[in-house]
Amino acid sequence: MSDASELHDLIEQVLQRYQRRPDRLVQILHDIQDGLGYLSDATIALLAERLQISYAQVRSTRDFYAFFYSEDRGQYRILFSDNVTDRMAGNQALFQQMLDYFNLQPGKVSRDGLVSVDLTSCTGMCDQGPAILVNEMAITRMTPQRVNQVCALVSAGVPLAQWPSGFFAVDDNIRRADCLLGASPEPGESIRAAIARGREGMLAEMKHSNLRGRGGAGFTTAIKWEACRNAAGEQRYIVCNGDEGEPGTFKDRVLLQSYAGRVFEGMVIAAYTVGAQLGLLYLRAEYRYLRPRLEAFLAGMRAQNLLGKDIVGVSGFDFDIEIHLGAGAYICGEETALIESLEGKAGKPRVRPPFPVACGYLNQPTVVNNVETLCKATEIAIHGGAWYEAIGTKQSTGTKVLSVSGDCARPGIYEYAFGVRISQVLEDCGARNAIAVQVSGASGACLSERELGRRIAFEDVPTAGSFMIFDKQRDMFEVARNFAHFFKHESCGFCTPCRGGTALISSMMDKIAEGRGTQYEMNELLRLQAVMKTSSHCGLGQTAGNAIADTVQKFRPAYERRLAQTDFVPAFDLDAALAKARHLSGRDDAHAHLGEEV
Ligand SMILES: Cc1cc2nc3c(=O)[nH]c(=O)nc-3n(C[C@H](O)[C@H](O)[C@H](O)COP(=O)(O)O)c2cc1C
Ligand code: SF4
Repeated sequence: MSDASELHDLIEQVLQRYQRRPDRLVQILHDIQDGLGYLSDATIALLAERLQISYAQVRSTRDFYAFFYSEDRGQYRILFSDNVTDRMAGNQALFQQMLDYFNLQPGKVSRDGLVSVDLTSCTGMCDQGPAILVNEMAITRMTPQRVNQVCALVSAGVPLAQWPSGFFAVDDNIRRADCLLGASPEPGESIRAAIARGREGMLAEMKHSNLRGRGGAGFTTAIKWEACRNAAGEQRYIVCNGDEGEPGTFKDRVLLQSYAGRVFEGMVIAAYTVGAQLGLLYLRAEYRYLRPRLEAFLAGMRAQNLLGKDIVGVSGFDFDIEIHLGAGAYICGEETALIESLEGKAGKPRVRPPFPVACGYLNQPTVVNNVETLCKATEIAIHGGAWYEAIGTKQSTGTKVLSVSGDCARPGIYEYAFGVRISQVLEDCGARNAIAVQVSGASGACLSERELGRRIAFEDVPTAGSFMIFDKQRDMFEVARNFAHFFKHESCGFCTPCRGGTALISSMMDKIAEGRGTQYEMNELLRLQAVMKTSSHCGLGQTAGNAIADTVQKFRPAYERRLAQTDFVPAFDLDAALAKARHLSGRDDAHAHLGEEV
């Protein structure tokens, strides 16, 4: 956009769309970037002036999120998902192929301003990788042929809307359905069932069910809802956590894609039970392709009086749902960081307490629940807590939806009653020769062959849903190194143990990979992991070293065979760093080198 008045007009239109609310800043930045391609400092300054907030506030929000750009990233911004499963499916060669085609360096824009190509964290397509995003639209199952097709379309400047629609097909791959995925209740059935039970009755059923949150921590949902209902506040909010950034997890994507009714009805039931009037779905930017159909679904619910005023004829039961888009930050899955993001800020986790149930979105009582947890509430509304409690194990009731990927014949979505053995899942998905399963993503646990008899359950192997399989051709050191890079990239930088620890772990893993690691690094990796676990501010830092600790313990030979046979090799090669000085001074004799015997 060349004309200054056009820029002013665009900003004005977007601000009007969001009623000039600074707490909508992340959405405002998205819309402006959609129009301009990137968010320059001048645009930020103009926006700050119009919103009457500080330049620093707007800029810090822009700079925090990976999908907001301060400089032009080209008409086509292509990002290759770089989860370990994408790597196993060959993403690196495809990435290089595309860079070569455009004669580009990673992250740099072509001279004609047409295209940039870079890597990004897991995009949640692990069952159909390697995956890419083109201007945040997902394309899966990349092959050398598909790379060439994409390159040709980009070179010809074909608008995304005219690309073959098959490129953007994202499959559900549901391989095993149980009571959630196998049922198809009528629209509104669960809301009516909840209303028939009454607010107290619905809460009682939730308590009876012993439903625990599916986002990872496994907190009892009824306790959360009750605390929110009882907290003092002018407004209550229901937030659906659709950030799903944990590498290897994609079940929420499938639930949002094909079970949106369950998700939204779960939000309505939560609102009814706690007395909330507004719901917010936080949708990760990688799932942006879902937004139009989710908006259409919400419109359909409004038309059926399942949202809006006096829902299903219950006087005074008013509730509606808005969709907010994330912008490429794994930490925004952490509930307080997510709330910060919803309020238009950088997604840095808050100090807790106070917890969101007492002081959440806009400092009001807020329930934050995972997508799957909310779906489960619809089952409990329809069938009751006793029915639900009878499924699974005593401490882990109901079913769990797993995202299965990696070395198996049938990657995809598997729903099981809690208590299923890891070996059963492996058998069902056609995994042969598995040497390891990474359960619950990069922050979860790495199980070895000896542990395959263990069970998926909060009391044994808890999981938010990710289930990545590695067979004997895989190198578990490289798996852990991929996760180390992920955490270094995703640490929000707020607290020192995590900011420093993830960076140090990542560089030590690189040093070991280069054959320069020693026993010193092995010891340091474990020491850093322990420091981060005990002193990081939030769950990201506390769990970022898990995979390192597990693989060092269970796959030690993968590390040891790379170690240099000395006690210590400095991380920084000072002599090499002085090469430029030697060159400038025209000297390369023994006296110009450090540590040389003369
Ligand atoms: C780094 C980090 C990332 C997280 N990402 C997610 C996520 O993507 N989705 C999610 O539901 N919960 C995520 N959580 C957990 C949330 O903080 C929160 O516990 C959850 O949304 C609560 O919902 P539940 O009780 O239904 O599980 C994450 C936590 C941490 C520490
Ligand atoms: S632990 Fe990491 S992600 Fe969490 S607040 Fe600290 S720096 Fe940020």
